[in-house]
Amino acid sequence: MTRLTTCPDAEAVAARAAAVVQRHLERARAERGSAHIALSGGTTPGRTYELLAAGEADWRGIEVWFADERCVGPEDPESNYRLASETLLARAAIPPSQVHRMEGELGPEEGARRYAGELAERVERETAGGGLPALDLVVLGIGPDGHIASLFPGAPALEADERAVCLGVTDSPKRPPQRITLSLGMLRAARACILLATGPGKADAVSAMLGEPSGHVPASLLRRGRLTVILDDRAASGGTVS
Ligand code: 6PG
Repeated sequence: MTRLTTCPDAEAVAARAAAVVQRHLERARAERGSAHIALSGGTTPGRTYELLAAGEADWRGIEVWFADERCVGPEDPESNYRLASETLLARAAIPPSQVHRMEGELGPEEGARRYAGELAERVERETAGGGLPALDLVVLGIGPDGHIASLFPGAPALEADERAVCLGVTDSPKRPPQRITLSLGMLRAARACILLATGPGKADAVSAMLGEPSGHVPASLLRRGRLTVILDDRAASGGTVS
């Protein structure tokens, strides 16, 4: 079952999410000596990253990855790496050797190919995860259309080979159109996912993701037993959230 937490506002969502992320990372590091976290972009998670940077987190042994990236350079205002860098990586002084950015400037295909190789090299595979590299934690936002990372409703990427680790996207309905994304298989193979949603614009998507799994709502395809959803009251105001 999906774990669902509702908070009064966006600030409380960020505080809760930062605490949950920290707990997952500490547990993973205690169990395996290291931890791998993947971050998303968008407007929602930035405050969570800031709170993480300001908190007590000990980043030793923690490797930071990305769930998706727009095909732009790392300095571009649209870069997810730039967002993470300004809100978390630089503030917490996480050594660059522990940060693995998707190279958006290489374009969707080459960028995805390189990232898949890096993940395969550094992150342990798990038989239970279909033999894919198993990240300890993925932080996700959700689009009003139910997309997660750069996996959009009805997109061919959702039908990718189950061994696919990372995919290039050339026709994202959210700009920019060219992107790199972890595959659905990778998100499902992760030991945990945290999905954050705030504001009334997300209420229908949140309600739909908790319903029947469907390629029309990519977030509904996440592995529910490993998913924690943290919402504010307005994002929780859709039909099936109670
Ligand atoms: C991206 C994302 C994407 C995002 C959602 C929610 O790079 O665009 O990683 O999946 O998380 O679209 O975005 P907002 O938080 O801006 O609504």
